[in-house]
Amino acid sequence: MTDALYTADIDMAPLKHWKLGLVGYGNHGRSHALCLRDSGAEQIKIALREGSPSRAKAEADGFEVVSLAEVAAWADAIALLAADEAHREIWTTAIAPNRKPGQALILCHGFSIHYRLIEPPADADVILAAAKGPGGAVRQEFEKGGGLIGFWAVHQNASGRARDLALAYLAGIGSGNVGIFETTFREETVSDLFGEQVVLVGGLVALAKASYQRLVAAGVSERMAYIDCVHEIKYLADLMQAQGIAGMYEAISDTAEFGARLIEDDIAGPELNAAFDKAMAAIEDGSFARKWVETYEAGNAMVEDRARDKTLAIEAAGADLRSRLYRASK
Ligand SMILES: NC(=O)c1ccc[n+]([C@@H]2O[C@H](COP(=O)([O-])OP(=O)(O)OC[C@H]3O[C@@H](n4cnc5c(N)ncnc54)[C@H](OP(=O)(O)O)[C@@H]3O)[C@@H](O)[C@H]2O)c1
Repeated sequence: MTDALYTADIDMAPLKHWKLGLVGYGNHGRSHALCLRDSGAEQIKIALREGSPSRAKAEADGFEVVSLAEVAAWADAIALLAADEAHREIWTTAIAPNRKPGQALILCHGFSIHYRLIEPPADADVILAAAKGPGGAVRQEFEKGGGLIGFWAVHQNASGRARDLALAYLAGIGSGNVGIFETTFREETVSDLFGEQVVLVGGLVALAKASYQRLVAAGVSERMAYIDCVHEIKYLADLMQAQGIAGMYEAISDTAEFGARLIEDDIAGPELNAAFDKAMAAIEDGSFARKWVETYEAGNAMVEDRARDKTLAIEAAGADLRSRLYRASK
């Protein structure tokens, strides 16, 4: 891995003088806009779709809100901070037909470029400026004087200064306070999708749900099962983030460590590897990306899944626990 770069190593001039158009005002969009402004970006406009529920929030934060077509005609650089599955539609209908020649494109996830959902013309710098983590954390860490670990990559370098723009953008959202590393669009995309599918979201949820059901089947109360299989995940995750896996083992009881070491290899058995292979194959051959974007474009993606989740016993156990904890602490 290359050495980290920090704010002191980075020329912030591109940020100060460029007209920056941020498309989307969700978790990343809002955090990026606030941090970039605090870091000296003088010209920022937020582009939102017609009827966007985020318009009021962006205006209350003091930003000018314009249409996607307007920002495409105005900006020197567009940061596409809208949902990945909407990138193709946004690019095709609003940005490509209206964009100012030579306009740079900034992505905070490599998805749309790696899978060729959008193919910018040769006059565009196309860069990745990925702050690794959820959008809300970008702002929270920035306000504490920190940031999320940043990764940059260049897909097209029309101006010869694409790297400078990527680094200034990442420093502007706080990543220069912790460390900025080089990557590629492919590496960031494959790693991000695999990590979230098999560990951070899919894997964790599968383990939490299955283990909760097993404990309840063994006669444990739903509340206790929820605490041991879901609620406590945060404490262990915090230990691993701060001290690594070995440090986490040192910080917990010997009983927990001994039991975990006994079962770890059984859990990471052939079925887990088969699931990993399936996820990786669909990520690498692009079929996951195609399926997701086609599902989104057909409408109503995941509506039924989300409704079904709300009816699950594990959700009721969590809601009941949280309501009692918060009532007691008020
Ligand atoms: N680098 C990382 O580790 C990392 C982590 C998380 C996310 N990301 C990336 O950050 C980007 C945004 O993610 P997020 O978490 O901020 O998402 P989010 O909170 O769901 O916000 C999505 C934004 O996209 C807008 N949007 C959705 N569909 C649109 C459409 N058809 N036309 C115009 N705008 C549309 C939404 O508009 P409304 O406000 O009008 O609903 C909203 O402002 C994605 O590229 C994602 O992959 C990167």
